[in-house]
Amino acid sequence: MDVLAAIAARRTVKAFTGAPIPRETLRALCEAAVQAPNHRLTQPWRFGVADRDSIPRLLEVLRRPAVAACVEARKLGPALERIAACGGLIQVACVLEGGEERRREDRDAAAAAVQNLLLAAVGHGLGSFWSTSPLMAHPEVLRWFGADPTSMAHIGTIWLGVPAESPPSPHRRHLDEVLHWA
Ligand SMILES: Cc1cc2nc3c(=O)[nH]c(=O)nc-3n(C[C@H](O)[C@H](O)[C@H](O)COP(=O)(O)O)c2cc1C
Repeated sequence: MDVLAAIAARRTVKAFTGAPIPRETLRALCEAAVQAPNHRLTQPWRFGVADRDSIPRLLEVLRRPAVAACVEARKLGPALERIAACGGLIQVACVLEGGEERRREDRDAAAAAVQNLLLAAVGHGLGSFWSTSPLMAHPEVLRWFGADPTSMAHIGTIWLGVPAESPPSPHRRHLDEVLHWA
């Protein structure tokens, strides 16, 4: 798929059919992510991947009282139901090293990696949702995904799957409101 078409087609999708995503596809999305620009080639991104078969174990972690307490009780059930319908999830973390400038640039690079991942998902016919829910950022969840919460920042959890909805493009400011010709 043409990259401009992928950019135009990408939307945040939160409802999925439950169809599994093959491991090789999840791997291909991470392969696209690591092509992102990164200053001094620090490659600060780390990925924790849960395929469809792992989701029941993830849900057990999310139901632990200390983890579940991160979100309002009324929101927990719907969130778990939606996660249960994902075809896979990718947890993205950024290694925290060096001073303020290095950390800022590394975080920027990790965000660029996420966008690569989201666009690659479009290319594979998948929907995606970049979530920063505290539920998935809980240290116990990060550890379950293989990340070290003491030395890494949570960049986001990418929910992935075959879309069960096709949301419209949310309103965006007219380009001329944010563009200035020098
Ligand atoms: C860093 C970041 C964190 C986000 N976290 C959340 C989130 O926790 N919950 C949510 O509903 N959407 C989250 N989003 C998705 C945005 O709400 C979404 O991108 C926005 O509504 C625009 O819609 P679109 O992605 O379809 O263009 C996040 C997006 C970014 C870039």
